[in-house]
Amino acid sequence: MLIPLILSGGSGTRLWPVSRKNLPKQFLSLTGQGTLFQQTVARTQQLPDAASPVVVASEDHRFLAAEQLLESGIEGATIVLEPVARNTAPAIALGALQAIERDPEAILLVLPADHLIGDAKSFTDGVAAALPAANEGWLVTFGIRPDRPETGFGYIRRAEAITDGAFRVAQFVEKPVLATAQSYLDDGSYDWNSGMFMFKASVYLEELGQHAPDMLAAVSAAHASAKSDLDFVRISTDAFSKVPDNSIDYAVMEKTQRAVVIPVKCDWSDIGSWSALWLAGARDAQGNLREGDTIAVDTCNSLLRSHDHHLLATVGVHDLIVVSTPDATLVAHRDAAQDVKRVVDELKAAG
Ligand code: GDD
Ligand code: MG
Repeated sequence: MLIPLILSGGSGTRLWPVSRKNLPKQFLSLTGQGTLFQQTVARTQQLPDAASPVVVASEDHRFLAAEQLLESGIEGATIVLEPVARNTAPAIALGALQAIERDPEAILLVLPADHLIGDAKSFTDGVAAALPAANEGWLVTFGIRPDRPETGFGYIRRAEAITDGAFRVAQFVEKPVLATAQSYLDDGSYDWNSGMFMFKASVYLEELGQHAPDMLAAVSAAHASAKSDLDFVRISTDAFSKVPDNSIDYAVMEKTQRAVVIPVKCDWSDIGSWSALWLAGARDAQGNLREGDTIAVDTCNSLLRSHDHHLLATVGVHDLIVVSTPDATLVAHRDAAQDVKRVVDELKAAG
């Protein structure tokens, strides 16, 4: 059984001030057709033979997740609620333990809830190409050809082919510094890790047990004491608070010997920051991405986003991000888009 596992627990701080604690980016319509979460779920509906998804989300967003699934007409999804965030490695472990209850041989297709994929056919083809390798016990990653030395992604170096279209992973490096990312780009044998994965739930748990045994033990204990009702699988705060915090990339993918990469050509973007949204969006002839009431005089290569009936005007500027909301306005250089999370850090520190 192929079970989509939708990771929806991120906080989306780099898209402040639109993405907020109570309404993070995956639950927002940033690009038009439904929220990013709904678009992700809809993609899984196009896959032949995919079962209903397992969604792992923060307890705080349980109604958002449930309502958005309902609105999309999705039935039979399992929503697992994390009382605290412990990053992706534990979230995927919770999903894997849940999937195994449905089918001990379950194959998970792990999908971040905040990606845009323009070309659904290539995505579906990539998933079909990954199935045999996942069935054989490999941890499958999906590689995207890099076009810039992005430091917010993982990099995968290909080794020999194992089947048509799947290659052993020689090296997996999560979020290298800029000089390293540039050398990987120049080298040409590295792909970006798309953040989507496919593997048997049991194989992921085995690998986690090998590379992060404390994490596996703590997540297993938390899952064993979970309480399920008709709507949600609720994980105890006490038990889940004991789980170490780490991503799948650092905890498993950098260490495992069982990874393969399937290069995919889908028009993919991680809407991680305002500059990523600007890159992925439909820009006008001046290179501006505009939303809401905006006037852009002598303005180029900028993202301008206003809210209901609030007029935003710029004159003689370039490469800016200007985002206004009823209670906060962001002005940032496009190159500093990754640092927007520092505003959120300051807000948190100020209480
Ligand atoms: N349930 C749950 N719990 N989900 C989480 C948590 C958590 O604690 N933390 C993050 N997520 C979700 C996010 O909402 C997102 O959908 C996904 O997991 C990935 O987390 P990110 O925090 O966005 O990861 P990243 O973008 O920094 O890096 C990952 O994705 C890149 C591609 O977009 C890595 O896999 C990189 O290697 C990869 O290149
Ligand atoms: Mg991301």
